[in-house]
Amino acid sequence: DGTKRLSVNYVKGILQPTDTCDIWDKIWNFQAKPDDLLISTYPKAGTTWTQEIVELIQNEGDVEKSKRAPTHQRFPFLEMKIPSLGSGLEQAHAMPSPRILKTHLPFHLLPPSLLEKNCKIIYVARNPKDNMVSYYHFQRMNKALPAPGTWEEYFETFLAGKVCWGSWHEHVKGWWEAKDKHRILYLFYEDMKKNPKHEIQKLAEFIGKKLDDKVLDKIVHYTSFDVMKQNPMANYSSIPAEIMDHSISPFMRKGAVGDWKKHFTVAQNERFDEDYKKKMTDTRLTFHFQF
Ligand code: PPS
Repeated sequence: DGTKRLSVNYVKGILQPTDTCDIWDKIWNFQAKPDDLLISTYPKAGTTWTQEIVELIQNEGDVEKSKRAPTHQRFPFLEMKIPSLGSGLEQAHAMPSPRILKTHLPFHLLPPSLLEKNCKIIYVARNPKDNMVSYYHFQRMNKALPAPGTWEEYFETFLAGKVCWGSWHEHVKGWWEAKDKHRILYLFYEDMKKNPKHEIQKLAEFIGKKLDDKVLDKIVHYTSFDVMKQNPMANYSSIPAEIMDHSISPFMRKGAVGDWKKHFTVAQNERFDEDYKKKMTDTRLTFHFQF
C-alpha cells in the first residue's frame, strides 16, 4: 500500500518486529513480581477485551479508574517497542504493583521469571479462522507490522506461521500443554461471547476477587463490544494514525464469532480444515468453528 512499515526479523525462529529482536535479551531477562498478572494471547484473540475485564475485576468495577489512560499505557506489553511510543519493559519498570502485563509470546519464549515467581497467567484462545481474519485486517491498518498482501496471500502466510508471533497452531498448543503445570487459566473468546458473565466470574475467582452480582453485571455491560468500541480509553483511537490507521480498518472491527465465513472461499475452507487436522492431531485441545 506504499506506506512505510516497521521491519520484522526472527527471534528463536519466531517472526517479531525488529525493535523487539534488538532488545530480546532484556525481554528474556524481565524480572517479574509475584503479584504481576499476565494476559497472554496470540495476536487478535481478545487481548484488549480481557485487559479491560481483568482491570475492572481488580478495581471492583470502578469504571472511572479504568478511564484514566488508554489501553497501551495501562498494560505494559512486555515485548513491544515502538520508537514513538516507548517500550513495554520501561513501562513495566515505572509502574506500581499490582501490574497487569500483556504478551503475545509463545510459551517457550516466555521470560522465565514469570514462572519462577509463580505469577497468575490468563491465556485466551480464539478459533483460528476468525483469528486469521482479524489479524489480516489488523495488519492492513497497523504500520508496526508488515503489510499483509492480498487476502489470498495472507491466507497462506498465516497457515505457514510466517506472521509475527509465529504459528497460531503452535501458540495455542504450547500454552495448552503448559496450563496444568503452572498457574494458567485458559479461556476461549467464543465462550466469552456466549456467556460473558460466566467467564468474568471464572476470571474473578482465579484473580481472587469476590464480586457481587451488580458489579459483575456492570463489568459485563462496560466490556461489551459496543461499549468498548465507543470508549476512547479502550479502542486504540489515541494511537497516532501513522501507526494505526482506523480509516483502513478500525481496531474494534466486528467483535463477532463466525465472520470468517464472509472471507473464506469454499476451497480455502477445505484447505484450512485439512491443514488444521494435520497440525492438531497431537493435542486434546479442540476448537469448534463450524458455526
Ligand atoms: S491485539 O492487537 O492483539 O491486542 O488485539 P486483540 O485485542 O487481541 O484482538 C482484537 C479483536 O478483539 C475484538 N474485540 C472484542 N470482541 C468482543 N468483545 C469486546 N469487548 C472486544 N474488544 C475487542 C476486536 O474487535 C478484534 O476482533 P475483530 O474480529 O477484528 O473485530
